[in-house]
Amino acid sequence: MQDYYAARASEYDRIYLKPERQNDLRQIEQWLPPIFAGSTVLEVACGTGYWTQFIAPVASRVVAVDAAPQTMRIAQGRVAPGKVEFVVGDAYALPLAGRSYERGFAGFWFSHVPRSRVREFLLGFRAALHPGATVVLLDNLFVEGSSSPISERDAEGNTYQARRLGDGTTHRLLKNFPTEGELRADLEGLGAQVRYHAWQYYWALEYVTAPS
Ligand SMILES: C[S@@+](CC[C@H](N)C(=O)[O-])C[C@H]1O[C@@H](n2cnc3c(N)ncnc32)[C@H](O)[C@@H]1O
Repeated sequence: MQDYYAARASEYDRIYLKPERQNDLRQIEQWLPPIFAGSTVLEVACGTGYWTQFIAPVASRVVAVDAAPQTMRIAQGRVAPGKVEFVVGDAYALPLAGRSYERGFAGFWFSHVPRSRVREFLLGFRAALHPGATVVLLDNLFVEGSSSPISERDAEGNTYQARRLGDGTTHRLLKNFPTEGELRADLEGLGAQVRYHAWQYYWALEYVTAPS
């Protein structure tokens, strides 16, 4: 997956140009930033910074982590200097010991977490945040005709898509489309005040981290 996103860095934002998704995107761009107003934010898998550009202007400070320096270079160009610290790192081993954030955000990342690593990711994310921090996970709903078709399903329940890049290469990408019930079950014991939001093409889960 990291290879795919490194190779795709310059093409990634085309996903945000799909005409049928524009209405949802404008709504989410309005809904999301106030959640981070005046707060310190840890953003996981920031990619090209599409969401960082809306969060950074209202947050007090953002630390944005991604495994691919190629995508991060694009993200850096999207935000005013000084507000966001970009860190190359692993979402499963957040390189942030000793820090603590009031808000957490991960856009279009959770769908790439294999079922076997969901708990590990959520625990690690919680550990990097203040107890009682608000977290938002934002991701795709599967919509026939707009989403890439699912090409495969494994024994663990993960689903895969075959994604083709502009250079002609095809990549097998893990991409899950959890239901609200599955998401709530994943957060059992880790999150409180869980709220599920859905638009036509996207879902978001907003929760408060439960104490460890
Ligand atoms: C679908 S993109 C989402 C990018 C961005 N958050 C957005 O919403 O546009 C997924 C991102 O996860 C990053 N990534 C993949 N594996 C990772 C890992 N183990 N740790 C941190 N980032 C990772 C990729 O480099 C890519 O930028």
